[in-house]
Amino acid sequence: RTYVTGLRPKKFRPGRFAFAFDIDGVLLRGSEPHPSANKALTKLQENDIPFILLTNGGGLSEAARCEDLSSKLDFPIAPSQLIQSHTPTKSLAKDYETILVIGGEGENCRQVAEGYGFKNVFIPDDFYATDPNISPFSTSPPPIYARNVPKGTKIDAIFVFNDPRDWALSIQLLVDLLRSADGVYGTLAEPGSKGHVPIFFTNNDLVWANQYDTPRLGQGAFRAAVWAIFQRFPEAHKNPARSQILGKPTHETFRYAQKLLIQNLIAKLKETSPELEFNEEMAALEPAEAFKPSSSSADTSADTAVAEEATPPPPADLIPAATPAGESSPSTEAETANQPLQRPFTTRSILQRVYMIGDNPDSDMIGLKGVGWSGTTWWGLLVRSGVWREPQAPKYPIAIVDDVLAAVDWAMENEQ
Ligand code: G3P
Ligand code: MG
Repeated sequence: RTYVTGLRPKKFRPGRFAFAFDIDGVLLRGSEPHPSANKALTKLQENDIPFILLTNGGGLSEAARCEDLSSKLDFPIAPSQLIQSHTPTKSLAKDYETILVIGGEGENCRQVAEGYGFKNVFIPDDFYATDPNISPFSTSPPPIYARNVPKGTKIDAIFVFNDPRDWALSIQLLVDLLRSADGVYGTLAEPGSKGHVPIFFTNNDLVWANQYDTPRLGQGAFRAAVWAIFQRFPEAHKNPARSQILGKPTHETFRYAQKLLIQNLIAKLKETSPELEFNEEMAALEPAEAFKPSSSSADTSADTAVAEEATPPPPADLIPAATPAGESSPSTEAETANQPLQRPFTTRSILQRVYMIGDNPDSDMIGLKGVGWSGTTWWGLLVRSGVWREPQAPKYPIAIVDDVLAAVDWAMENEQ
């Protein structure tokens, strides 16, 4: 059953479009693929319509996750088509020397962080192996991969890459570090001192959909537990903790995703139309450059919703290049849809719309307002196959559909 909301612009004009697929609750339920996922992706491949996967999940390198996804979906997914919750943090590896990474199985997240270029990466199991008394309710023996944490180790930043498997140990360690003197493990901050070690949560999902009937607690629930506990310490009020929240629905993440889609389109156009001139700095710019965590999406230790920041100005490189004298600039999108690309082309000419197919209004729909720039708009299609159920607030999708195939069919019909 498809329900088209009143939010679809009346003066709609077909143009070049792409898809961004959420994973949990859309393509997969836990380890099980949705029955129509392969058909939906195959339809896009047959019609040469570009897409990426944009998930708040993580815990593996993009290459390893793509191998797993390709086998589960029985459809080839390349690392250039996957953005996980922690993918954009690559650009922060040069900013922090020694970090703590929380979440995922075993030491997978340490390996992901080292693959991003972070130099000294500790995980909670290292602190537990160094002194098991750190977490009196963690009962498993310290794993053999654990490393020793020298006394006086200073943690420069903390990243929660994925949901921790041992909440007791991870919460204890996070609160220890929040209370420490500038991230030096084993110390307590002087009364009245200000500031604390920066913490990045790579997603704020309260719940997500696996095979269980009802949604399961996600990284946003873990974050709420950490803040609720830290709030109980007197110093929390004089020195409020602040965290940076990444992942959907932050504008940084959708902006990063739009960059990746444009990069993929440029790469494809370069293959098929080598004569085209490209706005070099745009073609060259790594998607990571589009990701500069802004303090405006940071939040205080109170459990506040992601700060609704004003739509940030588009990155300078994506503002349409001035049309050189003598060249007619395309006046409407419809003209660009079937005309040869204008030189030098701009994002307006290669990507008018991105359909975000999601199951969780609080991460996949709510962030889409005003997130596109320089001629690209993002439209949400909400599916009934994951977290969302009527009568919960759908939070501004263009349409509500049963599943991922119905979403692809509706969007392709819409673009006729
Ligand atoms: O941990 C994954 C969960 O938070 C949601 O993942 O794919 O629905 O964004 P996804
Ligand atoms: Mg989901």
